[in-house]
Amino acid sequence: MTRIAVIPGDGIGVEVTREAVLALRAASEVSGRSLEIRTLPYGADHFLKTGETLPDAALEDLRGHDAILLGALGDPRVPDNRHAADILLGIRFRLDLYVNQRPVKLLADHLTPLKGRTVRDIDFVVFRENTEGLYVGMGGIFKKGTPDEVAVQEDVNTRKGVERIIRHAFEHARRKGRTRVLMSDKSNALTFGHDLWQRTFKQVAPEFPGIEASHMYVDALAMQLVKDPTPFEVIVTCNMFGDILSDLGAQIQGGLGLAASANLHPGRTGLFEPVHGSAPKYAGQNVANPVGAILSSAMLLEEVGRADEARLLEAAVAGAVRDGRTTRDLGGSLGTREMGEEVCRRIRAGSRDAAS
Ligand code: NAD
Ligand code: IPM
Ligand code: MN
Repeated sequence: MTRIAVIPGDGIGVEVTREAVLALRAASEVSGRSLEIRTLPYGADHFLKTGETLPDAALEDLRGHDAILLGALGDPRVPDNRHAADILLGIRFRLDLYVNQRPVKLLADHLTPLKGRTVRDIDFVVFRENTEGLYVGMGGIFKKGTPDEVAVQEDVNTRKGVERIIRHAFEHARRKGRTRVLMSDKSNALTFGHDLWQRTFKQVAPEFPGIEASHMYVDALAMQLVKDPTPFEVIVTCNMFGDILSDLGAQIQGGLGLAASANLHPGRTGLFEPVHGSAPKYAGQNVANPVGAILSSAMLLEEVGRADEARLLEAAVAGAVRDGRTTRDLGGSLGTREMGEEVCRRIRAGSRDAAS
């Protein structure tokens, strides 16, 4: 039995999460292993109705699940997106989910905007530090609204925080048979915070002798990922750079609608979510691509020890994408629901293929 808490959230988050849950249920029927799914109401509607973002009791409740599946948060009716910060960043920080794992894998040659690249060229994973950096919310605004105003946003890098994400990236490489880990920072300009990244990377790398450790400044890396993504296998970087690089990575694999992610602290309840946001202009139109959410559910299944079901989801998605049975963002003609149904059908058919 696996217990999953689901927070569909706002906008297209609600629509893609529905399809991800149906895919999870299809895989569970196939495997015969049970699943308990509880849907929680947190998001913009709930905030506007009750004034509540993510109450302390809800956080405790989440800890009691094996995993959390989240859609997306962000709503134009909450201009400062307070609820999104409290819920999404709140879960990441308060559950100390220091690993943000964001795979970039091209499923079919025609999806990448990079000329001449194929599925053999684009297959890497970004490990984004997820609990520190510019995201800690330390700082303030002095003399707000006056000509003399000052805005300070601190960049917090701790030895413990930097070391644990770098070590996790190497351990992942070793486990998956990858041979290259690249750390990306901006230590030429951020001479304190990213000097710590430099020194920590040099200290940890020798613990993994079979793995080639290298470094690139983040500006050069952004350029190189577009010029030639082939050599990259595992990239580890800070919170902000990981956020930006993962959207770049999403686009070279075919678009934000495809990108999946896991927020982890090994041994604890993890949070799984597509990389994309709530895309308000597409909300309620049955056009959003559910693949990012479905592949995030596959990462969830893998993490809770149901790898065979994860493979079923991945194969079903890859088949649908290769056959052009997709939403419009990928050139297909299906709606969100219809693509979800297509994936579920393939999950069930895939299990029959595997059995025959
Ligand atoms: P977004 O990811 O919501 O959308 C950007 C564009 O990407 C869309 O206009 C669309 O063209 C495309 N896109 C994204 N998801 C897609 C999908 N599933 N299918 C097809 N196309 C898709 O980013 P945004 O417009 O910058 O942000 C909208 C809101 O979402 C903001 O409030 C932002 O803060 C929030 N946000 C939330 C999360 C999260 O909850 N994890 C992540 C990113 C942004
Ligand atoms: C993401 C999002 C979030 C982030 C926002 C919504 C705070 O862009 O998950 O990539 O920056 O982490
Ligand atoms: Mn982002």
